[in-house]
Order: sequence, then C-alpha cells, then structure tokens
Amino acid sequence: MSSIPLASQHELFDLPSDVSYLNCAYQSPKLRRSIAVAESELHRTLRPWTISSGDFFAPAEKLRDAFARLIDAEPGDIAIVPSVSYGITIAAANLPLDAGDHIVVLSEQFPSNRYAWSELVRQTGSRLTVVDRPVEGTWTDRIVDQIDDTCAITALPGVHWTDGYRLDLDTISKKCRASGSALVLDLTQSLGVIPFSVRETEVDFVSVASYKWLLGPLGLSFLYVNPKHHQGQPIEHGWLGRHGSEDFSRLVDYTDRYQPGARRFDAGERTNNALIAGATCALEQILDWGTDRIQHYLGELVARIAANAGQRGLNCTPTEARAPHLLGIELPADKIAPIAAALAEEKVYVSIRGNKLRVAPYLYNSRSDVDRLFEIMDRNL
Ligand SMILES: Cc1ncc(COP(=O)(O)O)c(C=O)c1O
Repeated sequence: MSSIPLASQHELFDLPSDVSYLNCAYQSPKLRRSIAVAESELHRTLRPWTISSGDFFAPAEKLRDAFARLIDAEPGDIAIVPSVSYGITIAAANLPLDAGDHIVVLSEQFPSNRYAWSELVRQTGSRLTVVDRPVEGTWTDRIVDQIDDTCAITALPGVHWTDGYRLDLDTISKKCRASGSALVLDLTQSLGVIPFSVRETEVDFVSVASYKWLLGPLGLSFLYVNPKHHQGQPIEHGWLGRHGSEDFSRLVDYTDRYQPGARRFDAGERTNNALIAGATCALEQILDWGTDRIQHYLGELVARIAANAGQRGLNCTPTEARAPHLLGIELPADKIAPIAAALAEEKVYVSIRGNKLRVAPYLYNSRSDVDRLFEIMDRNL
C-alpha cells in the first residue's frame, strides 16, 4: 500500500457529471469492476453444470480472507451472513444474561443493533440501559460510566448513524474487559474508513453490512466472532456449516460436528457467488487504497463541509467527536423540507435524519460537490 495521498477515484464509479452523490452512509454506488465480476458470476448460473462443489467454498474463503485482513483477524473468525440484524441475533443467542444484569446501548441506535437486545431483556427479565447523547462532555465518558459489574453486554456502533458522532472504542473495550462485559459492535457506518483492529481493540462480536462503506452488495454482511465463541450455537441449522459438507455425495451422513471456526454461523445459501465476487472485489480495492488514505481524503472534505456550515451559523457534530466521513448539520425545522427538495431537484443527494442533514462523501466526490451543496443551501436558508 502506497503512502501517497489518494486522488479522486470518480472514474472507477458510474456517476454522471451532474450528480453530486453525498450519501454513502445510505448506500454506496458500486465500483464498475465489482459489478463486472458479479455479472460474470451471475452469467455462470445460466449454465449450472459449470458450477462445481468447490465453487460453494473457495470464493467464500477468499471473501473471509479479505474481510479478515481489514480488521486484523483470521479468515476462520469470519461468518458470512445476510444482514447486520442476523449477525447481532447470533451474538444475542450466544451471550449469557441473567435477570439482574443489564445491556448498555446508545439512544437512537440503529434498529438492527437494538431489537435483538430488547427481545433478550424481555426473555430474561433483565434491562436495557440507554445512554443519551451528552449535553456536556463526551458520549464515550457517559457510556463508560454505565459499564459496571452488572453490565453483561455492551452493544454499540463505531459512529452514530445519524450524524457520525464517533465513540472511542478502545476506551470502551478496556472498560468492558475490566467489568466483565461482552462487547458487540455494529461497524457498518465506520469500517472501511476508520481503521479497526481486533488485535488492538478486544471485542466479542462485530457485525458489518457491506453495502455502504465497504462498497459491496445488499444481502451480504460479515460477522467477526472472537475465537472464545467459536463453539457457540448457530441460529439456523443448515448443511453448509457442518463438517464434511464439501462432499456432496455424503450430506446425509448426518453429523454433530461443524466446519472450523466461525463458519458454523454462516447463513444458509451464502453461496451466492455474484454477491461474493462483487464484495470481494470491493474489499480488495479498499485494502489496496488503505483505510488511512481513504480517511485522509474524506476527512478533508468533511472538514470543508463543517467549515462551510459553521460560517452559516449551523451546528454540526462536535469537532472532537466528528467522524472523518459522516457529518450531521442541524437545520432550522422550517428549512428542512425546502432544502431537501431543492437538493434533490439539483441532483445533490444527501439524507435527512431527524432535524439533521446527513452528508456522507466518498472517494468519487471532490470539493466542487461540497461547493454545489452550499450554493443550493444558501438559496434556501
Ligand atoms: C448503523 C447501521 N447498521 C446496520 C444497517 C443495516 O442493517 P441490516 O443489515 O440489518 O439491514 C444500517 C443501515 O442503514 C446502519 O446504518
């Protein structure tokens, strides 16, 4: 990986010149090359006799390897799942929780990392501790204060999905270890931009959707499983995760044994090689660019967006907790609808989350996209 700063990667995507897509937190445009490899895999399904039993395993191993490299894990620590909610459900099914315990989550956390915990506390008679956004001080400090000896599980994102408020996961992980709490993370809105290593930050489970900052397809997500949970219970009982499933002639030699590592947690029919090929191609591109360089490029754009918002007296995600790639700009209530409509009219794409305009650039964006955003906002503020 080079240390030369990245230039715009606009030509690798298919964005028309009159579109300013500042909404990667919603769904990334795909790399042209990812779509080409996915299409070629889809075409193979016209002729299933060209698909061998090996094709049910080798591409998935390549994908596991690419994702593992991104978080400093081993390929065998990675399960391939269809969604973050599926991954979090596996975590919830494999972490002990007693009636006197509690689970720490953030307020307005993305639902895929919330409903499984609400259900678990209902079943066990325990409780959820919802940590509100701070008025003063940092959200990390407020979370750390709530992780005590009765906190069995801490379930958090890396950044808040509505405005990129960033948590200090290292500090939270250390507090979890000291208090005996399991740590479960949803890194959908940060991995691919903010570096994360399971060697540096101890964690029990990490679930990540691929279709945002990993530039992958919908329907394919990842679950990192700490080796201490590799003997856990999958939430479905398919054939692929069982020992010896490579030999299709002996699938009814039923067995209680599983494939090694986290593979037992793979979802059924994870063998959709069009999705796998597209996701692998995108991950390899991200590994090649390097998250440090991606972070640097996006950090400059987000700093420019924040400075522009500040000049207009608009509040943003606090500087000290701001993610390098995702920013919430607070708007006056009566301006939200007209600004959203004007931006859409001019093909500047962002999201509205609550009273905030969520702006999420990527490597296909440049300063001119930021300038267009504020030109249109100025006409409507
Ligand atoms: C933080 C976060 N997690 C997860 C998801 C997607 O969840 P799932 O894969 O369960 O649909 C999103 C989508 O917006 C998200 O923002």
